[in-house]
Amino acid sequence: MKVVIVEDERQGVEMIVSDLIAVVKNKATTTVGLATGGSMETIYEELVSHGRESAVNFDEVRWFLLDEYLGLNADDPARYRAVIRKQLVDPLGLDPAHLYGPEPDLASGEDAGPKYETAIRAAGGIDLQFLGIGRDGHIGFNEPGSSLASRTRVKKLRPETREDNARYFGGHLSAVPTMAITQGIGTICDARRLVLVAWGEAKAEAIAKCVEGPVTAMAPASALQLHPHVTVVIDQGAAQQLQLKDY
Ligand code: PGA
Repeated sequence: MKVVIVEDERQGVEMIVSDLIAVVKNKATTTVGLATGGSMETIYEELVSHGRESAVNFDEVRWFLLDEYLGLNADDPARYRAVIRKQLVDPLGLDPAHLYGPEPDLASGEDAGPKYETAIRAAGGIDLQFLGIGRDGHIGFNEPGSSLASRTRVKKLRPETREDNARYFGGHLSAVPTMAITQGIGTICDARRLVLVAWGEAKAEAIAKCVEGPVTAMAPASALQLHPHVTVVIDQGAAQQLQLKDY
């Protein structure tokens, strides 16, 4: 695991986007896993502006969502597919057909996991998966207690996660779905390369457990310690509780 402590979010974002552009230049058919959330927003903004300037060709890239809410209407702007359309696909002029996600229809929820796994495999697996981290150490919607070998499946959200995400639902906790479908920890770790990002002190404890803590289902991101190619990009705030910060 490579831990990169940057001066601030801006520096981290520029580094990540330059890296992604280099990856796509090197392999036009790259498959990229996309996380949603506050930590990724500046990365998508930068990718849109830098991507346009650099004239890199994204036509053959395939994009895969990490997770999706269940129980929202197909046209709900809070659906992660809609969020990624707005933040990345539309402004960068990508083909929406190249954006894949788990089927967020509650009726088909149980089938949706295996179907999504099949879609990922059919695309040759994910080359580069981006991840945020929850304050409770979740990755995707794999809440504490999730099996480290889990595959894409339906998960119930913890109150803390719903509270954190209420800001995307006008601050109304009752509007935040209680269920989601998420790539499992095993699915995430099948990606050839993982990049986890975290900004700010609120993530410091989760990052310390992810990077230095025991590998445990109670800190789902700690499973990344077993992956051969992970980069954790964090700012000074998120690095605060690392015992080996200076090293
Ligand atoms: P955030 O969420 O980027 O909005 O902080 C990350 C996560 O919950 O995985």
